[in-house]
Amino acid sequence: MLMLVFIVLAGATALVTADTPANCLYEDIRGTWTFSETERTGDHTINCDELGPIVHAKNFTLSFPNTATDELGNEGTWTLIYNQGFEVNINERSYFAFSYYEGDLNAVVSYCDRTFNGWSRDKTIRNWSCYTAQKTTPVNPRVDARPAQRELDRPFRNDQSFIDKINAAQSSWTAKAYPEFTKYTVKEMQRRAGGPKPAISSRPRPAPATAEQKAQTALLPEHFDWRDVEGENYVSPVRDQGGCGSCYAFASMANLEAQVRIATRNQRQDVFSPQDTSCATDNSCSRTYVSDYQHVGGYYGACNEEVMLEALVTTGPISVSFEVYSDFSSYNGGIYHHTGLESDFNPFELTNHVVLIVGYGVEEDTGEKFWIVKNSWGGSWGEDGFFRIRRGTDECAIESMAVQVTIIP
Ligand SMILES: *[C@@H]1O[C@H](CO)[C@@H](O)[C@H](O)[C@H]1NC(C)=O
Ligand SMILES: *[C@@H]1O[C@H](CO)[C@@H](O)[C@H](O)[C@H]1NC(C)=O
Repeated sequence: MLMLVFIVLAGATALVTADTPANCLYEDIRGTWTFSETERTGDHTINCDELGPIVHAKNFTLSFPNTATDELGNEGTWTLIYNQGFEVNINERSYFAFSYYEGDLNAVVSYCDRTFNGWSRDKTIRNWSCYTAQKTTPVNPRVDARPAQRELDRPFRNDQSFIDKINAAQSSWTAKAYPEFTKYTVKEMQRRAGGPKPAISSRPRPAPATAEQKAQTALLPEHFDWRDVEGENYVSPVRDQGGCGSCYAFASMANLEAQVRIATRNQRQDVFSPQDTSCATDNSCSRTYVSDYQHVGGYYGACNEEVMLEALVTTGPISVSFEVYSDFSSYNGGIYHHTGLESDFNPFELTNHVVLIVGYGVEEDTGEKFWIVKNSWGGSWGEDGFFRIRRGTDECAIESMAVQVTIIP
């Protein structure tokens, strides 16, 4: 999802992709890098496919947990972007590039000590250049392969015995068959859920909450829902991404739509296109810009329930990714947690789905804490297009990587 926010910022249409197959981890990226940068003469339409003459060469040292320093001792920050690349913010400039790899999701070699050509910009988002980065110490190439998947092109089948098993195994949530799913192939069902997960061998657990974070969240209400803040709904209508693996685009637009509604007190209720096409609208039409975005907590690895609650209530809905298991698509209502059950019928690989958290609460009878989450599978799925999921236990990794954005309406 962060990728897409970046696209909105950059207008860099080259990035019309979800996760790359790269698999670069914290220890691969931490260390000293040489950034080779072109002249800062571009605007947001800059194309970095070709690098052009290098005029700036800088060494940045990226250290724990998120400090970046240059040769002169100037300090900034850095963050991994999942296992895909990293962003450095220093000396009033922001740098982002994808980690280099060869191959595809089925068989990939990640070269984590170098990047593809990336984009650099100043704080005003008007002054752009291209760059590439090379680590000063080599990192061994990482090889990842996944077993070949068969039968992905066959139609998805509702598996009633699987649904019965889910409903018998627990009483926190209910499952049901969705007849409309049979129009999709198994592959399309996987795409709807985010597509095959990149091979990530480790991921950060939620950071332990500090005493200060706990004190902050103690002041928050027990229930909060952006669909009903003193009677006002700031969440745009639920959409359906169909068989397309575009959850990150839908979740990013849902995030921006809510931000516009909140910033204008519902005077504007735009619905943005999740399609990253060149914009043919009249120049006199208004433009809405993203002025900032960040991992909730400050960087990848700093997320937890407390900072998510705080960001949600004070800044608006937040985008999250979580792991989708085969029991999730049959969710009907209640507070979801993964049952550990798998369908015998539909070969299903763990995927990585992006959605929007719009609220939270506590179930009265059981005391179970939950997030309220907007999905992009249409309004007839789940609880009117939304679902609730266990909160406070990093259920399906939902508390590992939240993102907030700031807009200029
Ligand atoms: C971008 O900023 C640099 C200073 O960092 C300046 O020299 C250059 O002229 C600026 N370019 C544009 C296009 O504004
Ligand atoms: C950056 O580091 C490399 C490797 O240590 C060194 O050769 C180079 O001179 C440094 N460049 C700058 C601009 O300090």
